[in-house]
Order: sequence, then structure tokens, then C-alpha cells
Amino acid sequence: MRGLLLCCFLALAKLSLNPKKTYEYRYEGVVNFGLGMPNLAESGVRMTCKVNITGVSAQTFVLKISNLAFAEFNGVPGKNSFTASPKLSQRIAAQLVKPIMFDYASGHISDIRASADVSDTVVNIVRGILGFFQVTVKTTQRIYELEEVSIHGKCQSSYATEENKETKDMTITQVVDLSNCREKAAVYRGMATAVLDHVAKQRGESVVSSVRYVYTVKPTAEGGLITKAHGLERQYFTPFNVKGGTFKMQATKDIVLLSESDTERAVMFGPVESKGNLVYKFVDSKVNIPVLMQNLDDPVPKAIALIKRLADVNSYQIDVATSDDTLKVYQLLRVMPYEGLEQMWRQFKGNEEYR
Ligand SMILES: *[C@@H]1O[C@H](CO)[C@@H](O)[C@H](O)[C@H]1NC(C)=O
Repeated sequence: MRGLLLCCFLALAKLSLNPKKTYEYRYEGVVNFGLGMPNLAESGVRMTCKVNITGVSAQTFVLKISNLAFAEFNGVPGKNSFTASPKLSQRIAAQLVKPIMFDYASGHISDIRASADVSDTVVNIVRGILGFFQVTVKTTQRIYELEEVSIHGKCQSSYATEENKETKDMTITQVVDLSNCREKAAVYRGMATAVLDHVAKQRGESVVSSVRYVYTVKPTAEGGLITKAHGLERQYFTPFNVKGGTFKMQATKDIVLLSESDTERAVMFGPVESKGNLVYKFVDSKVNIPVLMQNLDDPVPKAIALIKRLADVNSYQIDVATSDDTLKVYQLLRVMPYEGLEQMWRQFKGNEEYR
């Protein structure tokens, strides 16, 4: 009896996958951007798919994604809903027809490999899914902290584990401390003229930044297997320390184990190249900036007029109709030389609203 208890106690110490089996999961990820205030437009995207993980050797596994569907949200929460984006689904699915390989041992993912034509953007999506399987389980301690590699970088994680006495399942809660990272997947832009003091830095950082995962792990002969997991990430920030205006990003993701079966046929895969570890890889961000058609000649007076108008209509409450103008100002500022920015600053610095 004692031997048996000891065996199971130790066995759960590591998450692992059986290389002879195929695990089928359902995945859903949702990202939402907005101000979180009633009657204001928000945007978001949702991705759902099925994920199969099959072993090819003791520590190498293959991930296959199928039934991929993207949906977009552009509108007011409660009034509008997600609409399917078949073109985006097709484009991403086309890159994911070829399997992705990765190494997996003791609940740790390394060396993600894919065909050369799979873009970093798509590998980032895969990182978001694979991140669920990167979990350190310690059964000797109920609460522990350690540094771990994740999509956010090399950051400190706090874990708390709890065993369900009846089902023997384990609930593991992991909180990633994004303010305590040795290497953080973050970029700062447009800081050329920023004041580099402590207060300015603090103001520019996120107001709220939290990441939490909750896993349900069932004991298996090999160790522990994730049957269900939920992730929640919140980032609220106020890039210009705008009065009372924090911008919110909320992301949730879920996986559920659908089936687990003996692998019948070996997985076929073509040539692959290394795409790195789980840490998010930045891609050229310019391609992702929304563009509105406008004449970009002589940007200074145009930007000045738009900023005045935006400040006037938004003095007391933000107005949905002006989001186009905000994008226009953004574009005009990007094409403006430094002297133009200085000229604007001279005009605006005395007026608190325009500043
Ligand atoms: C995923 O695994 C399930 C169960 O083994 C199987 O029925 C399904 O065909 C697999 N899907 C893909 C895309 O390989």
C-alpha cells in the first residue's frame, strides 16, 4: 500500500504525453480590445480549432491543427456579435496543413520546428496553443515559485496545486508575474523623445497586467495529462497617461481534451526548420497598422486641425464617431518629420486639452 501510494505520488510530478498515443483537444482563443465602457465600439478576434498531438519518438511530438475558424468582432458589445472570417481562416489553415514538431519532456516544450514556409505569425499562434502544455508540477509542495519560459518571455510564475480527493484530479493555478521577467517579449516604440525618468517609465507601463492559467490534470501511468485548461490575460494601459482613459486588452484561451487513442498510423512530415522556443517572436509590426485612405501631403496643419477637433468633441466623453480621425492623426504623425512634431508641440503645449 505504501509502495503504491509512493508510486502515484511521484508519478504525478511530471506532465507527460505517451509517445504511442494521439491526443485530440479542442482549442478556443479570444482577444478583445477596447475601453471597456458602455456603448463604445470594441474589436476582437476569435479562433477555434481542433488540435491533435501525436508522438513520433520518446521526446518528439507532432501537432496537427484542423477545423480552424476565425471570427472577427467590430462593434458594440451586446449589440453586435462575432462574424466569421473565412478568408483569414483559409490563409492561416493553408500554412497549418503541414505538421508542427516540438520536443516535450517533463512538462517543458522546446525546439518548435515547422516547414520553412510557415510564417512567424502562424508559429506565434501555435506558441499560444503549445504554451498550455508548459507546466511545472511539483507534488512535494502545494505552493511554489519558479522562473519559466513562456510566450511572454522568461518570467517568474507562482503555482498553487490542489488535489480533488474523489476524482484524484489535480487543479493547478499558475500566475505569471509580467513585472518580473528576465527576458520579456515586449517592444517599445516611438520613445525617441520620451523623458527617461522613473515616473515617466511607470506611467507608460501597463496599469494592469496579469496572466493566470487554471489546469485540470488527471493522473495517468506516464504522469499527468491536461484534460482541461483555461487562460486569462489582461493588459490595461494608458500610453500617454490619458486622464481616466485606460485601454484594455483581454485574452482568454481554453483547451479541452476530446479523446485519447492509440496511434494507428505513423505521422508523415516533410522537411522542417527550427522556429525557436515558446517565446513570442515579433514580426514587422508596420504591416498590421490599419490604413485609412487620406492625402498625406502637408501633414502638420492637418494633424493640428484633427487634434483640435478630437480634443473638443472628446473633452468630456469619448465619441464613437471619431475613431477614424484618431487613426488619421496617427498616420499623419508617422509621416511627419521631427521639426513638424516640434512645431505642433509649440502650438499645443499651453493648452491642456490639446496636449
Ligand atoms: C485527430 O485525432 C482523432 C482521434 O484520434 C482522429 O479521429 C482525427 O482524424 C485526427 N485529426 C487529424 C486532422 O489528424
